[in-house]
Formats: sequence, C-alpha cells, structure tokens
Amino acid sequence: MSCPSPPTPTTSPQQASDLISQLAALKASENLESDSTARNTALALSKKLPAALEGPLNQATELVFKPFITVTARIAVDLNIFSLIVEEGTRDRLVSSAKLAEKNGGEEVLISRILRVVASIDFVLEAGDNLWSANETTTAMASELIAAGHRFDLLVVSAVSSLKYLRETPHQIPTSPTDGFVQYAHQTKLPFFSYLTTRPSLFRDFNLFMGSTMGSHEYSWEWWDVKGRLLEGGDVLFVDVAGGRGHDLQGFVEKLKGMSKAVLDGIGEELDGRVRRMEHDFFKRQPVVGTQVYFLHHIPHDWSDVYRHKILTHLREAMTPGYSRLLIHDLVLPDMGATELQTRFDFTMMTLNGGMERSRSQ
Ligand SMILES: C[S@@+](CC[C@H](N)C(=O)[O-])C[C@H]1O[C@@H](n2cnc3c(N)ncnc32)[C@H](O)[C@@H]1O
Repeated sequence: MSCPSPPTPTTSPQQASDLISQLAALKASENLESDSTARNTALALSKKLPAALEGPLNQATELVFKPFITVTARIAVDLNIFSLIVEEGTRDRLVSSAKLAEKNGGEEVLISRILRVVASIDFVLEAGDNLWSANETTTAMASELIAAGHRFDLLVVSAVSSLKYLRETPHQIPTSPTDGFVQYAHQTKLPFFSYLTTRPSLFRDFNLFMGSTMGSHEYSWEWWDVKGRLLEGGDVLFVDVAGGRGHDLQGFVEKLKGMSKAVLDGIGEELDGRVRRMEHDFFKRQPVVGTQVYFLHHIPHDWSDVYRHKILTHLREAMTPGYSRLLIHDLVLPDMGATELQTRFDFTMMTLNGGMERSRSQ
C-alpha cells in the first residue's frame, strides 16, 4: 500500500510578483507613515507574500513548527535576555552570549541557540559571532508590561489541552466558566478569574499585561469623542466596570477634565481625588445607579452568552433611560473575512473562559 503523495511544492511567481507590484504601487501613492488604511492594506498584502514565495507545501509544514518560536521567546523572557541586551548592548556596544550567561546563569550555548531563533525573526540584532544588540522590538520585549504577557502562559498551556478536552466532550464549545480548557488543563473547578487569585504572580502578570493588550492600537478614550459625546454634570459620571488597573479610566479622566467623579470597579490605584475604587461582582446588582456612563472594556467577550446577558441585565437595571449610556469596547468581527488577529483573539477567549469574539450578526 502506498502513502498518498504530498501536493507538488510549487511556488506562485506570478502571484508573488503581483503582490510586490501592488505593494510598490501603494508605497508610491500613499503615505504609509500617516495613513493607517494604507498601512493595513500593505500589511494584508505582505501576509500573502510568504505563501506565494514559498509555496503551499512549505507553508503547511512550517505551521507545525511555529509554536517553537513563541516558546523560545518565552524562555528568553524567563532568562531576562531581552532586558539584558537592552541594558548591555546597543548598536555600538555589542553583548556576547558569554556575558549574558554570566548575568543570568543560563548555559552559554543555550543562550546562543535561543538568540539565533529570536534574531531570525528580527527580535534582536545578530551583530557578529555570538554577539548581539538591541533593536526596537528587543526594547518592546524588554518592557515589563509585554514581558508579563509572555510570562502569562497559562492560556497557551490550556490551549494545548483543548485537543483532548474537545475529543472528550465531543467537540462542544465550552460555555461554563467552571468547566473549560483552563479547568481541564489545571485540574481545577475554579472559574478562570478565581483560579488566578490562587496564583498571585500569574495574576499580577495578567493585570500588568491587560494594560498593554492594545499594543500600539489606540485606546477608546484616544479616538472616541469623549468631550463632545458625553454630557457634563452629574454626581458620578463614569463607572469603569471591572476596570482592572484603571488604565482606561485614567485616560478618560485626563480627557474629561470637567468630569466630577468616576468609579473604578477594579483593583487599581486611586488615580486622584475624583476616582473612587469599589469592589463589585458584576453578576450582582450594580450599586452605582443612574450614572451617565457605564464602560466595559474587554468584558463581554470573556463570557458565553448566558453570563454576558447577566452582566448586561444588571447594568440595564442601573441605567436611567435617556440619560445613562453603555460604552462597550470589544472587537466586532466582520461576518466574513476576519483577520488573523481577530480570529486569534476569538480562540483566546474560548480558552480563557468559554468566551467569544462576536461577529456583527452574532
Ligand atoms: C479581561 S479583564 C479586563 C480588565 C479591564 N477592563 C481592561 O480592559 O484591561 C477582565 C476583568 O474582569 C474582572 N472580573 C472577572 N469576574 C468578575 C466579576 N464576577 N465581577 C467583577 N469583575 C470581574 C477580572 O478581575 C478582570 O479584571
């Protein structure tokens, strides 16, 4: 009996050259620096290039090995390699693997092998034989907020377990916060957010990272017409429901200088005299009634429909018709043609808490 033969490993030179021409035309006609639509188009075209240049067989095979890139970067974060290179190495001053090993106690050859991987994706500069220096991505990786995201590997570990979970269910989407991928992988019945409180360093990393999940995308208080669209006055103007560290509220407070008071429903610091911190379970009655704005950032997407409805029902009951507004900052996926980033987030939510990034019609 013979094995089925793999598809012919053809590249598509015509398709590649079409893509390159489209990119060149875009560069000529648009200002990539200031025009985000042109940048997004360029990004979408450039993502199609590898398939055209490498051919389908390489593309399909490479996907098998892609997780090793993420895992290697995660080890580099653990060994503090990005921070050490930023501290020790600049374009003029290179840092050797031996020096890094001396600083972090890792085996020198391991460090070189890790750095070969991250240099191959331009996360550090390979400046000589076992000599490294920092570029802008190294600096981003060295930031404590981003490093926290890499350390927060509970989700990836849980996603790997999802294969077995789904075979057993069989292949039903998890919807209960006490019986999903996280619980299966970590042998717990605690909901994700309660489980986190039993792992303080992970919980700290989660909260740190939540303040930077937008990357360089704009926060809602940056692009939304806060001043023009919010009425002035009212005693308590703004409730950031489950606001985490309060990074959003800080932005809103700064934009809305006339805002009299705000409530941060989260674990953050008191920002100034205007912000009151409050502990509240959003599955219970909302205690701050009749406020002008209730804000939910990255909340409904954490939950399956039944729980999402409970959260929204409590807020509806607290709102004054014709006065209160509900602002939701979540992704809305297009009904067709979602981007890789959007689809990745959807599976992240399924893993985290049986949640979902919803499309326009969902
Ligand atoms: C994905 S984070 C979003 C935090 C913040 N809004 C942001 O955008 O960074 C979800 C938040 O919901 C909080 N949370 C989870 N269950 C909750 C509950 N039952 N009541 C109130 N907050 C809850 C978590 O502690 C966490 O801070």
